[in-house]
This record gives sequence, C-alpha cells and structure tokens, in this order.
Amino acid sequence: MRIPLSVALSLLVALPAGAQTPAKPTRLGLCAACHGSTGHASMPGVPNLAGQQLDYLRDALKQYRDGRRNVPIMRAAIGPVSDAELDALARWYSAQSPQPRAHP
Ligand code: HEC
Repeated sequence: MRIPLSVALSLLVALPAGAQTPAKPTRLGLCAACHGSTGHASMPGVPNLAGQQLDYLRDALKQYRDGRRNVPIMRAAIGPVSDAELDALARWYSAQSPQPRAHP
C-alpha cells in the first residue's frame, strides 16, 4: 500500500516538535496547583521547578515517595507513583524555561 505524499509530509513536520517537548504527564494537574503547570510556583513556600536538572528532580520525587524526604505535603501530593510517572513529571518540569518573577 502506498502512503499519500501529504500524509508523509505531515508526519515529517510533526516529528521534530514531538521529540523536543515531552508529553504533558497525566498527573500534572495536581502538581500544577502548587508548582504551576510550567514549574513557576503559585504560592509562598513552594519551590520553582522550571529548568531544574532532570536527575535532581527525579531523585527528589523518589525521595518523597520512598520517605527519605519526609515532608508530609509533598509525600501526600506524590503518593505511590511508579518510576515511569516520576520520570515523566521530572522530564516535563526540567524541559520548561525559567521565567523572571513578576514581582521583584
Ligand atoms: C500542596 C502543594 C504541593 C503539591 C500539590 C505538590 N507539591 Fe511539590 N512541593 C511542595 C512544597 C511545599 C515543596 C518543598 C518541600 C520540602 O521542603 O522538601 C515541594 C517540593 C517539590 C520538589 C523538590 C524541589 C527541590 O528543589 O528540591 C519537587 C521535585 C516537587 N515538589 C514536585 C512535585 C510534583 C511532580 C507534584 C505533583 C505530583 C507536586 N510537587 C505536588 C508543594 C506541593
């Protein structure tokens, strides 16, 4: 079966964009309530995550999940997630560009 040229071209155009931006993790909604969907915290006392090192974010999330970082607010938020879910969340926030704060 032959693939129409228009379909082939649209696939070529779509691929690079998909490779650069990680897919939005399914669990992002909860995190966004405190950290913002782009990793810019929306409330005092919550750290920004945008552009943070990927391995640091991944380790931090594992530490909350496994109790080595025993901070109840984050332990409750992260819950019993899989390594794959942690990885998706870490990749998402690491890929965001840090923005200057709105209020100095
Ligand atoms: C209710 C608010 C709240 C929610 C919801 C929340 N967090 Fe947090 N998060 C915090 C606070 C507060 C801290 C700082 C905790 C500490 O002192 O270790 C934190 C810390 C972190 C850190 C460590 C940052 C660092 O610099 O060490 C990561 C990574 C993180 N959160 C990711 C997430 C992800 C991913 C989700 C969604 C599953 C999430 N958080 C949901 C409030 C929240």
